[in-house]
Parts: sequence; C-alpha cells; structure tokens
Amino acid sequence: MKFNSALGLLTLVGGASSSLTITTNTNKNPLVSSQNTTVVPNTFIVELQPDFHPDLQPKERFSKTKPGAKPGYRVRQQYNSTDFFYGVSVSFDNHVDLGTLRQTAGVKNAWKVALVPRPEPYVLRGAPKISKGSLPNLRGSAKINQPLAMGNVQKLHDQGIKGRGVQVAIIDSGVDYRHPALGGGFGRGHKIALGYDFVGDDYTGDNAPAPDQDPLATCVDGGHGTHTAGIVGMEDPKNQGFGLVGVAPEATIAAYRVFGCEGSTSTEILVASMLKAAQDGADIVSMSIGAYDIWEEVNPFDEVVTRLTNHGVAVVAAIGNFGTAGVYSTSAPGISTNSLSVGSIENEVYPTVYSAHDDKHKAIDYVSVFPANSLGRVEVYQLGTGLDVPIDANVSSGCYQPAWDALAEATIDWSKTILLMSWVSWCGSSWGQAVDFGVQSILVSQEEEQLIVVDEPQDPTTLLFLDLPNSKQLVKNLSQLPAGQKYYLTFDGNKPSYAANPLPRTPDDFSSYGPTIEMSLAPKISAPGGTILATFPLEAGGYAVLSGTSMATPFAAGSLALLKSQQPHLSVQELYARLMTTASPVNEPGSNQVASTARQGGGLINVYAAVKADTVISPSELTLRDSATPAPQKITITNQSKSKKKYSIQHSPASFYRVYYNYLTGNTDYSSAGGSIPLDVPASAQFSQSSLTLGPGQSASIQVQIKPQHDDWPWSMPVYGGFVKITSDDAAYSIPYIGVPYNRTEVGPIMHNVTTQVPYDSPGILKLRADDLFLANGQIPTPNIDSYNWSLDLSKSFIPVFRVDVLLPSRFIRFDLVPANTSFVPSIYGFDPDAHIDYKPPSQAILPGFLGVPTYGQLFSITVDDAPSNSPTISQPLINHFFAQALVYPALTNDDNVTYNISSGDYRPLLRALRWNGNEANPDDYESWLGPVIRADIPSDEFPSDA
Ligand SMILES: *[C@@H]1O[C@H](CO)[C@@H](O)[C@H](O)[C@H]1NC(C)=O
Ligand SMILES: *[C@@H]1O[C@H](CO)[C@@H](O)[C@H](O)[C@H]1NC(C)=O
Ligand SMILES: *[C@@H]1O[C@H](CO)[C@@H](O)[C@H](O)[C@H]1NC(C)=O
Ligand SMILES: *[C@@H]1O[C@H](CO)[C@@H](O)[C@H](O)[C@H]1NC(C)=O
Ligand SMILES: *[C@@H]1O[C@H](CO)[C@@H](O)[C@H](O)[C@H]1NC(C)=O
Repeated sequence: MKFNSALGLLTLVGGASSSLTITTNTNKNPLVSSQNTTVVPNTFIVELQPDFHPDLQPKERFSKTKPGAKPGYRVRQQYNSTDFFYGVSVSFDNHVDLGTLRQTAGVKNAWKVALVPRPEPYVLRGAPKISKGSLPNLRGSAKINQPLAMGNVQKLHDQGIKGRGVQVAIIDSGVDYRHPALGGGFGRGHKIALGYDFVGDDYTGDNAPAPDQDPLATCVDGGHGTHTAGIVGMEDPKNQGFGLVGVAPEATIAAYRVFGCEGSTSTEILVASMLKAAQDGADIVSMSIGAYDIWEEVNPFDEVVTRLTNHGVAVVAAIGNFGTAGVYSTSAPGISTNSLSVGSIENEVYPTVYSAHDDKHKAIDYVSVFPANSLGRVEVYQLGTGLDVPIDANVSSGCYQPAWDALAEATIDWSKTILLMSWVSWCGSSWGQAVDFGVQSILVSQEEEQLIVVDEPQDPTTLLFLDLPNSKQLVKNLSQLPAGQKYYLTFDGNKPSYAANPLPRTPDDFSSYGPTIEMSLAPKISAPGGTILATFPLEAGGYAVLSGTSMATPFAAGSLALLKSQQPHLSVQELYARLMTTASPVNEPGSNQVASTARQGGGLINVYAAVKADTVISPSELTLRDSATPAPQKITITNQSKSKKKYSIQHSPASFYRVYYNYLTGNTDYSSAGGSIPLDVPASAQFSQSSLTLGPGQSASIQVQIKPQHDDWPWSMPVYGGFVKITSDDAAYSIPYIGVPYNRTEVGPIMHNVTTQVPYDSPGILKLRADDLFLANGQIPTPNIDSYNWSLDLSKSFIPVFRVDVLLPSRFIRFDLVPANTSFVPSIYGFDPDAHIDYKPPSQAILPGFLGVPTYGQLFSITVDDAPSNSPTISQPLINHFFAQALVYPALTNDDNVTYNISSGDYRPLLRALRWNGNEANPDDYESWLGPVIRADIPSDEFPSDA
C-alpha cells in the first residue's frame, strides 16, 4: 500500500527519467522503508506527562489504544529527565495506532521509532595496519590543517583560544581513544573525558543493544566517530603523525557510542544519547548522523533539541548526504528548528600527496593518505597495452572489454607492476576484473578535472590517484618512451605535500539541500567537510581522508566551542546567530554565482569573525516562506563597539533551484527532470536605506523588501535565496534569506494540466493488464467511463491504474472509491460532468466515508506520521517522484482497517490531498480529484465478498 519513492530517487541519479513506480494494493508490508530509514513496527517513543510516574507504567493506559484490544508491551528505553524529556520507548505485541496512542491518558506525545542508517562517508583511502599505537612521522610541507585556515580557526589558535572549558559531546560510532592524537586514554584528565556505549560492538539496529560504560570502538567500520572526534579535538604528538590539529583541541570531549560495528542505530537510542550528553554537562552536542527527513514537525528529535537548547546545550547536526536529490533533501535531527544544521564545503587542497619518480628522476605526485613505498620500483602497465588500437580514455578506463581480455592474456608479475587506468566515472564497475587478474595496485589518472572522491577502496587493490597535471605528465612521459621500452616508477617519497583541489571552497555535491518542507533555512551554516584528513582507528592505520556533512558537523561544533569559550554568556540562539551572520558566502562549484542559501545556509564558517564581532545583527536569517510578494522584513543592527561605525547595506542574490528545470523554457512536458542545477534567476531587494551610522552602543533597524522573480511553475518546486550584506570598515556580515516564489495554499498540492512522461495527462487513469504493470504499456481509457475486469489469473485482469501526482507538500492524502453518482464537487474533474451515464450501482454497502462524502472504502490514506523518511505525503521534493496506484485485486479497506472485496458495478476514484496549512477536519481545505467511472466486472466466485 505504501509508495516507495526511494526508487525514484535512486534511479534518477544520472538523469534517467523512467522511474515511475507502481504501487499495488497487494503489498501489506508493515515496514515503510525508503531512503534507508525504516520504521520499527509497533514501536514508539512516548513522551509522558511529567506527573506520570514510570514505576506505575500502567498497562491499562497503553492498552486503551483500541477498544477491546489489550496489547502487551515491552519498555525499551527510559527517558527519566524531567528537565529534558520524560518518557519511554515501547514495543507493542499488537498493532497500535499512533493517533490513538497520542490520545492515551498520561501520554503527551508519541512518535514511531525508526532505524537510522550509519553514516557512510566516502572513504578516500585505506591504510596499513598500525601496531601498538605507534604512528609514523609524516611531517612534510603539506597544508595538513587547511580546513582550519578555511574556517579562520588558525588565527584564534594563534591567540591561544582553543576551546578550553567547553564540553563537546560527540554522538557517533564510538572512538578509538587509544590514538595518541586523541589523548591515548579515557576518563577524567584525558581529552576524551566522558562517554558511554549505548549499544556494544554487535548491535546492528535489529538486535538488543548491549550497553556499557566504555565508548571505545576499534573496528574499522566504527572509525567514523574517531574521525569526527579528531576534527573537534585531535593533536598529533610531536614526531608522530602529520601534525594535525582539531578545531578545539583544548575542549573536553564526551563520546557517546550509538552504532555497533555494522548496521544502524535507532531514533530511540539517539534520543537517549542526547539526554545523557546533556545530563553529563555538555555545552555542545555534535551529531554527524541523519535520518532522511524533510518535515520539521514529525521528527521525534525536535522536542528534545528544543529542551536542550533552552537549557543552554547547543545541538549541531549534519544536514545529510542526500544532495544529489536536490532541494528538500535534508535530515533529522538537523532540520529541528533549534539545531544548527551543517552543510559541507570542499577542502581547498588534497592534504596528502606523495612523490614517486621515474628512472630519469622526473617526479609524479599521487594522492594517498600514506605513501605507497611498499611498492618500491614498479613497472607502469597501461590498460590497453598489447592491442592494436590507440590507447584512449575509453580503452584505458576499462570500458573497452578487449583491453581487459588482453590483460588476461599478458604475462605480468603484479608484485612488480602497477596498472595504469584512466578514470572515467561511468566505467568504474568493470574494475572488479582487475582483482580477478591478480592486480595489486592501480594508478588512477584523470582525463579531465575531477574531484578525487572514491567510495570504499577495492580491497585488496591499492588505488593511487593522480590529479590532472600529474596525469598529463605521466601520459606524456609514456608517449615519449622509445618503442619497446618499459616505464618504471619508484615509490620512495615519504614527506607529504599537497595539491590543489579542483572544487576548492564550494559546496559539496553530496551535501543535502534545504529548505525544510516548512521552508525554514537548512542547512544553517557550512563548514569544511569534503576531503578531510583526521584520526581513524589504529587498526585501520590511524588516519583517513573522509568526506561528508559528517565531517563538517564536528568542525562547526568545534567552532561553536571556540566561540562559547570567549562568549560564555551568550544563549545558544545568540551563538548560532553569530556564526551565521559572520560566515562567508561561497560560490557554486565552478561558477561565479553565489551558491543558493538552500545549499550553504549562511555560508562557510568564519569563527575568528564570529569571536571578534562587535556588531550584532538580528535576525540572523530571513525565512520568507511561500509568496510571490513576501512581507517586508526588519533587520536590527547594534553597534557594540566603542567607536562610531558606518554600515552599508547591499543585496547579494544567490542561485535559484527547481526540481524540474525544463519549465523555465516554458516547456510543459514534465518529462525532463533535473537535480538542482543552479539557475541565474535572481530575486531583487529594496532597502529602506543603503547605509547608516551608529555610535557606540547604538542600534537601528532597516526595512528589507525581497522580491522573487515571477514564477509560473510551482510544481517544479522552485526555491530562491540570497543574502543581505551589511559591511562596516572592518567587518562584513550577511543575513541569508530563503523562500518559495508562490503561494502553496493557492496552488494546491495536486499537479494538473501538464503532460507527463507517460503518454497521458495527470491526474488520470490507465488501463493495464495486471501482470504487466508498466505504465508505458497502458491504454488510455475511453473518456468518462470505461470497463475493467478482475480475475485471479492476472493475465486476464485489465485493471485501472490511478495516476495522481501530489507534487506540493500535503500532510494528509486519502484515496477512496465512491458511488459513481456522487454529488461531491471536486477541485479537478477527471471527466465531463455534463456527460450522461446510466449508472450501474454495485450491491456494495455504502459507508459514511470521510468528511461527509459517502464511500465504498479506501484505497489508502497517508499522513505525515507515516513518513519519517518519505511517502507521497512529502510530495515531492524527490526528483521525478510520481504516484501511481494499481488496483490489482478488487479490495478496499474500511475505516476500521478491515479489507474486503468489492462487487461488480460502477465506481469513481476520489483523491483528496490536504492543502498547505489546511485543517484536516475542514473539507474546504482539500484539493481533490474525482475520476471517470470505473465499470467493474468482478466475478464473485473468484472474489467473494466477505463483508
Ligand atoms: C541504502 O539502500 C541502498 C539501495 O537499496 C543500498 O545500496 C545501500 O547500501 C543502503 N545503505 C544503507 C546505509 O543501508
Ligand atoms: C529510569 O528510572 C527507572 C525507575 O526509577 C530506573 O529503573 C531506570 O534505570 C532509569 N533509567 C535511566 C536511563 O536512568
Ligand atoms: C496564500 O493564499 C491564501 C489563500 O488565498 C491566503 O490566505 C494566504 O494569506 C496567502 N499566503 C501568503 C503568504 O500570501
Ligand atoms: C486546467 O484545465 C482546465 C480545462 O482545460 C481549466 O478549466 C483549468 O482552469 C485549468 N487549470 C489550471 C490550473 O490551469
Ligand atoms: C491495518 O492492519 C494491519 C494488520 O493488522 C496493520 O499492519 C496496519 O498497520 C494497519 N493499518 C492502519 C492504517 O491502521
């Protein structure tokens, strides 16, 4: 019954548009699974009234969930803090309805428990094993700590500001505190001074957690938390490691482990860990964790985050790594109103580059965490050698199978040979053959400027990467070789240097885009998170380069620690505001356009500016919501310095995004879907004044009127943004704004009057053979009325597939079959209301239905609570998400959740989708589609009516 839109998302990366998914009414799978977030059946986080004593967990209270039913239950987590959050997580033996649970006495609120997938950053390189905590000395000329320069942290460290006295809690996969750069131990007096393991090594999300007091994680797959802890607080000891320094190396770190060595964690454990972090005295909680979620209102963290921040505990959380899905691809708890959500910016350098040289002592530099000196002197063997074809990108990238066949034929000693391949991303999958042929190391060259970001290295092969200049140099060296002569490289350089990153200081493509469905700014800030070198478990070599909003998050948490150490009196919201208004907006990758605020929030953290700021700007963001003519905004500027300051006010529009960009050309063909291609469609701004002068302590307000471009295509989900810039002689401040340029209430959630990629209009019906549910094979039914028949032999069933695209957000969608002669007046007719039809009413009981509309029963209904991850309700930030419901068997469900067969006769489909800001109980607040007559032929011997 549920629609899995992850399919639409996953198949779309790369631009294919054939991602229509059909949902059948045969699937009664209780798991709503998509985007890898999975709801645990009948399991809830329940917030209890504060006067509700947990020792009196009255079975009778929970058992009131349904008349007559007395489900047993098991308490899984207890949340005992009356300050922060008071409640339990419970698993019921039987089905329990969330709405009923919320209305149970003693219950304040309740949420479904969901599994949260472990963060999977891109691992750049594996590394040799290290024994007994001794690390190599890899001091070189590398810009090892370039992220500190990017975030203007270095200048504070130079002044001795390193986060002393501030406690940062890291909720992650545990930490290898044996690492010398992380203090080598655990407990009071150590860098990792506190912590807790909520789960144990073997926890996967599907089994019982085995908590203990020690957050140590030594498994390689648990390395994530060692990396994030390092970004906050690492300090390589003298003569060991690279000389890495974290953002706040004098902060106290508390490590809370919520992932085992494999698998997921759950929202109930995350809530428990957030509460413990706060109770243990955290000033800042850093969460490089996210469950895909775009509605602020449904995630169970919101309440906890709000309580924490009200008690002075900041919650810094990753916005997610779903950026390739485009706008509205955020995660929770990042989207919680009071979280500081963090997006990722690419490093300016590849931090670890080593030199090899050929026999003429010409250097070739390669990107790798550690030097590959165990290779020694090796022959370079280019893929494609031995063929009678010129070696071009196609041949040497492995796309050309004869090149692999030739390699299989050749006699090569792979212990003394490195395979040279060119990197063309779309040929990656053929590379597995290298391992089959015994290849031990691969030198990867580039054909064009490409960011080196690689998923899990293909064990047991060593992958070494060349940037573009070194790729060109190597190919040139090879081409200059006399015929028949072999080319050797000797790997013996052991001092790292660095190389230029091709996408320096721009938002990473993986970094999730906001806004939230409620159109709040997300992420709020950005930090270096792409190509980040930091600590890793000793068993895995001690260091790794990872990329992800997971890496940006501890950077922001560390920055907040530096700021808090200098401004301890500021509230959490004031700390966030300082970071946001002093951040530096960055451009789109490879462009002069300012990157959308949906992508970068306030911009790249400039923590020095945040600490030194002597002007306070309020508010720190303008959320303009949904309007073509947003209300004027007021910005207040306060000069807290001891001297007079003149401020000038300017507008800096940022790029514009939409999910379906083809609309810009006026093309109403809905087929060409795009991610979020930055478009140059700037908003304009007017200010009440362009400059002002304020004496010490003085404060004044300006009026700001932002006007988005006119937009005719709301269903393409346009998002605009930009910055108001306020500059004085010695400082620059910026206030990000974001909005959508149409009124959601007026537009309504159902897409209509456009042609879709399949050959018919939406909303509509297609007739399909039940064993061949490809929309492209469907027939367009005759207008107003058509016949359909059902059989247990699906090849004989010609059934209706209802196609309704709910593309703008709707919190509640309900789909019924109603009497064909219904008097209901829909917003959208799927037939000619004046056409005369002689109805054949079925011998089917008519139910009271919903909001006064009699019905024969429901096809489905979906609320926002069904979708901690996604469902048609979230409609449809995900690219190319269409919504088709096939009635494979002639069965409906009544309001008591009983499913029954219907009988032959006439029916109409009715879909109602709640408008933005609508009241579920008000019929006028729905947009609706009423379809043509379904004349159903249902053999009662095959489908006995059991109603
Ligand atoms: C998420 O789902 C995709 C597709 O099913 C799968 O390839 C990937 O491994 C999953 N990731 C996690 C973290 O479970
Ligand atoms: C919460 O309180 C109950 C009852 O007093 C106790 O058994 C339980 O251990 C406490 N749980 C936590 C996490 O403190
Ligand atoms: C959007 O339209 C509705 C209905 O016309 C109106 O009530 C609401 O004020 C409008 N919202 C904005 C932000 O203009
Ligand atoms: C859609 O088309 C119908 C029929 O042509 C028309 O009456 C209606 O106004 C159109 N709606 C929109 C939103 O364009
Ligand atoms: C309907 O009942 C089935 C089976 O008991 C259950 O799995 C499902 O979640 C229920 N759905 C609703 C909306 O209550």
